[in-house]
Amino acid sequence: MASLLEVDGLSASYGRMGLALDRVSLTVEAGSIVAILGANGAGKTTLIRAISGLLKLHGGAVASGRTLLDGQDVTRLSPDRIVRLGVAQAPEGRMVFKTLSVEDNLAVGAASLPRARRGERMDAIYHLFPRLAERRGQAAGLMSGGEQQMLAVGRALAAAPRLMLIDELSLGLAPLIVKAIYERLGEVVATFGTAILVVEQSARIALRYCDRAYVLEGGRVALSGAAGDLSSNERMRDLYLGAAAGH
Ligand SMILES: Nc1ncnc2c1ncn2[C@@H]1O[C@H](COP(=O)(O)OP(=O)(O)OP(=O)(O)O)[C@@H](O)[C@H]1O
Ligand SMILES: [Mg+2]
Repeated sequence: MASLLEVDGLSASYGRMGLALDRVSLTVEAGSIVAILGANGAGKTTLIRAISGLLKLHGGAVASGRTLLDGQDVTRLSPDRIVRLGVAQAPEGRMVFKTLSVEDNLAVGAASLPRARRGERMDAIYHLFPRLAERRGQAAGLMSGGEQQMLAVGRALAAAPRLMLIDELSLGLAPLIVKAIYERLGEVVATFGTAILVVEQSARIALRYCDRAYVLEGGRVALSGAAGDLSSNERMRDLYLGAAAGH
């Protein structure tokens, strides 16, 4: 059976700047949480953009390789088509619609669903994140960073995706909020069978909450494996789990 997501030898660049992704291959199975790790500029966001079809919008392009969703080649489909095939994204910087209410932000996420399914799906999100329910009438821009991240995740989930892409989930958030969000994501995976591909700055957090991780260095996959195996990998420990790595 095909994996939910298979990235196969993907290379990408922005204009003539050299390769931002260099033959990256990875797989995400249904119902799993997979982390992408790597230093600033390693290519993490570029990889997310390549999968979601948004690379072009940022002046980049896939040079070679493929992205398969359930075996279907989606490499050159429009972002819109990719969303319709069940891939939703919580982008870097959260990008909630600040002047819209929490409810309206979620409604934007649910807009790709048939009308009859939207209400039920929004209720499920409120059940998952009661804090969003309490603030449903509030403008998104007035919420804390952690709440805005919950909303960004909730908005992506409102589209009932098969695969959710999250860029920089924990950046700038207190450990307790990070823990709360990952625990909810674990429930989402268990309840809906959704798969999650998440960019994490903190290797410790990734290895605690994710099933597998891929480490990018200079646009290439330098290390990958099950979280348990990576935790004891020497290179991983030296470069990403040392005292300097934080968290
Ligand atoms: N829109 C763009 N135009 C030109 N170059 C870009 C663009 N976006 C990213 N790059 C370049 O591509 C490379 C990879 O960047 P990317 O944003 O994917 O890294 P990242 O791993 O997400 O880093 P960070 O942890 O800082 O978010 C970098 O060298 C970056 O300067
Ligand atoms: Mg990034």
